[in-house]
Amino acid sequence: MEDDRIISAHLMMEDSQVEYSLRPRYLSEYIGQGQVKENLKIYIEAAKLRRESLDHVLLYGPPGLGKTTLSNIIANELGVNIRTTSGPAIERPGDLAAILTNLQEGDVLFIDEIHQLHRTVEEVLYPAMEDFALDIIIGKGPSARSVRLDLPAFTLIGATTRAGMLSAPLRDRFGVVSRLEYYNVEELTFIVSRASDILGVQIAPDAAAEIGMRSRGTPRIANRLLKRVRDVAQVRGDGVITKALADTALRMIRIDALGLDEIDHKMLRAMIANFDGGPVGLDTIAASIGEESRTIEDVYEPYLLQIGFLQRTPRGRVVTPAAYRHLGYPPKKGAEG
Ligand SMILES: Nc1ncnc2c1ncn2[C@@H]1O[C@H](COP(=O)(O)OP(=O)(O)OP(=O)(O)O)[C@@H](O)[C@H]1O
Ligand SMILES: [Mg+2]
Repeated sequence: MEDDRIISAHLMMEDSQVEYSLRPRYLSEYIGQGQVKENLKIYIEAAKLRRESLDHVLLYGPPGLGKTTLSNIIANELGVNIRTTSGPAIERPGDLAAILTNLQEGDVLFIDEIHQLHRTVEEVLYPAMEDFALDIIIGKGPSARSVRLDLPAFTLIGATTRAGMLSAPLRDRFGVVSRLEYYNVEELTFIVSRASDILGVQIAPDAAAEIGMRSRGTPRIANRLLKRVRDVAQVRGDGVITKALADTALRMIRIDALGLDEIDHKMLRAMIANFDGGPVGLDTIAASIGEESRTIEDVYEPYLLQIGFLQRTPRGRVVTPAAYRHLGYPPKKGAEG
């Protein structure tokens, strides 16, 4: 199953305690995402100077890139409370109304997976975001009337891995919309070194770089791989993580030099062997390796697209020459490179 994958970017049980301690608390500790950070710094400063609440912020991007972390940092930097919930958790309009009326002036309300809000709940959010107001219906039948309640000025931070699934009216109500990008190897190396410090593990710089390179651009995966490597260092070595030890440990869990695992290999090999490298449709790929199309689209494919191993074309997915080389296949006939 996808969620058992060591390189799954999704949060797993074993991550939760350690993630908490590794989570940066301030913008200055938050590595990478330069443009997003720069903009937020200015907006936060301005809001503090004006003593107003920060504009509503939408953060989107693949899992594990730091949306939740950044939301907590924003509240921290503003010096306000953060109330955390998620789209699917808010079942009825009344649940959201209760959360909103309990906020204090300036607070951050963080809604994770905001694309999964129920439509009826979403409608409560519109006037709340726009006018800091809550419209409630009192009474029933012909005598029912609508009353408007004032809410404290608050900042909504919405996070989603699927910005495309957000309704236009909701999306339009965010003043700041930021997309988080995959991290480069230097940034991931830094994240691994920082995490090692916090965990009290000694790691050689080239070993940190090796783990960074194999983390699929994703801090959550970097932290997870580090923990696996640390286990091996404790059992097999003297506790110090060297590059050779990192390499051995990552091989043991079958993570290749670019961070691809067995399922990535299986998918690319199936496309090359059965479909001459494509173009091949998503559903066909899914059927040939026994996975769901949506899982491939959300989880496997984004990183392969990012490193240029797959291309999306109108006729389907195509395996690139770089992927042929990486997997040790001779170049496809007629393909350059
Ligand atoms: N910029 C960063 N610098 C250092 N560590 C980071 C950074 N971003 C994320 N991390 C680490 O990665 C972990 C995962 O980040 P986070 O939970 O914020 O991701 P997310 O985008 O909210 O994921 P999901 O989509 O699954 O909710 C954090 O606990 C933190 O340790
Ligand atoms: Mg999150």
